Amino acid sequence: MKPPVLIVDDEVSLCGLLEVFFEKKGYAPVSAHNVAGALKRMEGPEPLMAMVDLTLGPESGLTVVKALMEKYPRLPVVVMTAYGTVEKAVEAVKLGAFDFISKPFEMVFLGKVVEKAVSTRVLEEENRELKNFIRRQGVELVGQSPAVRQLRDRIDAIAVSESTVLITGESGTGKELVAKLIHQKSLRAHKSFVVVNCSALSENLLESELFGHVKGAFTSAHLDKEGLFAVAEGGTVFLDEIGEMPMRTQVKLLRVIQEREITPVGGTASSRIDVRLLAATNVNLEEAVAQGRFREDLYYRLNVLRIYTPALSERGEDAALLANHFLQRKAHGRKSFTPGALAMIEGYAWPGNVRQLENAVERAIAFSTRETIETLELDLKVPAAPGAGPSASPTAETGVLGGWGPESASVMPETGMVPTLNDIEKAWIYWVLSQNHWHKPTAAKILGLDISTLYRKIEKYGLKAQT
Ligand SMILES: Nc1ncnc2c1ncn2[C@@H]1O[C@H](COP(=O)(O)OP(=O)(O)OP(=O)(O)O)[C@@H](O)[C@H]1O
Ligand SMILES: [Mg+2]
Repeated sequence: MKPPVLIVDDEVSLCGLLEVFFEKKGYAPVSAHNVAGALKRMEGPEPLMAMVDLTLGPESGLTVVKALMEKYPRLPVVVMTAYGTVEKAVEAVKLGAFDFISKPFEMVFLGKVVEKAVSTRVLEEENRELKNFIRRQGVELVGQSPAVRQLRDRIDAIAVSESTVLITGESGTGKELVAKLIHQKSLRAHKSFVVVNCSALSENLLESELFGHVKGAFTSAHLDKEGLFAVAEGGTVFLDEIGEMPMRTQVKLLRVIQEREITPVGGTASSRIDVRLLAATNVNLEEAVAQGRFREDLYYRLNVLRIYTPALSERGEDAALLANHFLQRKAHGRKSFTPGALAMIEGYAWPGNVRQLENAVERAIAFSTRETIETLELDLKVPAAPGAGPSASPTAETGVLGGWGPESASVMPETGMVPTLNDIEKAWIYWVLSQNHWHKPTAAKILGLDISTLYRKIEKYGLKAQT
């Protein structure tokens, strides 16, 4: 179907000209000569764009523009004005019209205006579809650091292959996300992506999950059950935490990989399968092999292609980017970070990687009552506190302010005393410094102090790095 274009002008001959113009461009123009006619035309399908004359005899074209914008907020409307009625055109643009063109106009000029209106519309729609697509999929690998760019390239290169992939990386670095992306970019994308957590189930359950079972295979097997390998037929199976797979299951998995066949638990007949295998681990598999906890032959079968998800601390400025991404996603643009909070996010070590960051942002959104999220609301825990630190140094268990939050008992655990403002300031400055490798300019930025004030306070409290 040709895309409809609505033309509203009381000059019948001009409508005719415009119709010819739009027909030649492959559109389906429809004309109206007054407000009532235009409203009637609007009962049909939504046009791709509209051209509206601002003086329709005794009536005003603005009425039509208003009605159009109300019904189709994204419709590009180009208004046509006679010489000397620019104010009206401005009014139309304020109402949401896309552009205006003064009569009489050259056809070449009209062509340009129309092209701009249509391409804006098409782009907008593509953009929306793309966003929907991403939302539907829910997977987006955020990051601009060299490490993440490399990861992206590697995913693209690996996705089209049919080989087994071993995904390694610390906990919370996005291994499952990478597995999903590999599946989505592969030729199997339209088939299932099935996740199996190898550490969550007992040996027997895991095997019946993976390979299925026949009726009567064990006491609770009342019916035949299809295994996940069969469910994923044509698609991808993601074996998460493969390092935790029991030895006996490892033997069976090896056979499946070698023979591309599965036999349900308790069954004798095997059936061929067509699945791609992805596996992830945050334990060192080489070490597990050396210690006899993981079969060497299976290790070689899995480690055909390898992909490594870098720790957040290896991703430079990505922490702030990710934090803003999660904030946007979870608070829908209603909240933002203070510069201090962002500097803190960039400086923090994130031992729990992206997952920890995501949780911290979620918690901060829940706790913050204002539009900005402050440093304190991030509530980042300190790694093990140095033994001989200042008496008020916070600990991993108690958090930044050593558990002296406004809602807590307000008594210092060690001394039973209520801390003074100085105690808190000392602890807080110490903590920020220790989180930022004692880099004073960064700490000053986070604390909102100028550098000389920070030096004065370091001196006053006798703060120094613990070695
Ligand atoms: N680059 C990224 N961009 C956006 N979100 C990410 C990114 N990396 C990880 N995440 C998100 O962080 C969370 C943790 O990621 P994921 O579960 O993939 O990590 P993992 O490596 O499998 O962790 P674990 O080893 O603990 O299972 C998920 O919600 C994931 O969507
Ligand atoms: Mg995982």
